[in-house]
Amino acid sequence: MKIIMLGAPGAGKGTQAKRIAEKYNIPHISTGDIFRANIKNGTELGKKAKTYMDQGLLVPDELVVDLVVDRVAQDDAKNGYVLDGFPRTIPQAEALDAALEKINDKVDYAIDVDVPDSNIIDRMSGRRACVGCGGTYHIVYNPTKAEDVCDACGGQLILRDDDKPETVENRLKVYHDQTQPLIDYYTKKSILKSVDGTKDMNEVFENIVKILEV
Ligand code: AP5
Repeated sequence: MKIIMLGAPGAGKGTQAKRIAEKYNIPHISTGDIFRANIKNGTELGKKAKTYMDQGLLVPDELVVDLVVDRVAQDDAKNGYVLDGFPRTIPQAEALDAALEKINDKVDYAIDVDVPDSNIIDRMSGRRACVGCGGTYHIVYNPTKAEDVCDACGGQLILRDDDKPETVENRLKVYHDQTQPLIDYYTKKSILKSVDGTKDMNEVFENIVKILEV
């Protein structure tokens, strides 16, 4: 099962992608997580990506596409994967399709987690991310047992640099300009499925499972 998660920043793509990956035993491939790990490790890729991410801009396609095409070709992705945060532009989607076509393969579902902009600032300002394992929580909707401590690994929780309101506004603009056209792109391919992302996290997940198990 090869799945793409679409949706605005903070719509809940990562939250749902992790659950899908766990239920169907397929890798969760998040380009945002890959960049954040590179930033943490001080790699050249991380240094380049950070300059864009801090401004709420997309990292250029040439730094993303090969990385993802190589990742989905790895052995653990043979039976499927859930892509979270990729593709984000039409050229990225075309590059993925072209790479898959070469091996007679294709994406099965593009799931759009639909959340209006008015909910997004609230989602982002309340999100806390673990510096250790990258786990995400929300101070109201998905709180940890102890304040600012990750339930999974005991790591410290922080507000992501790009979750500050001024950067979120930019990310939303970039989303509407560059990523939203993918909704049409996958609708034309008849693989777009939309879920209401304003519902409770468990309900959103149940609705996704219904789509995948039809
Ligand atoms: P990335 O990390 O992918 O950020 P994003 O797409 O902006 O998405 P987020 O991770 O912010 O949100 P999400 O939808 O996963 O929401 P989450 O589940 O955490 O990318 C970061 C940056 O990297 C980009 O801006 C760009 O610069 C660069 N980048 C990455 N990929 C790229 C690419 N392909 N090309 C170019 N550049 C790229 O949920 C958000 C919060 O809401 C959490 O606190 C969560 O607990 C809560 N929540 C989730 N669901 C619900 C619910 N149903 N009800 C209430 N609260 C909920």
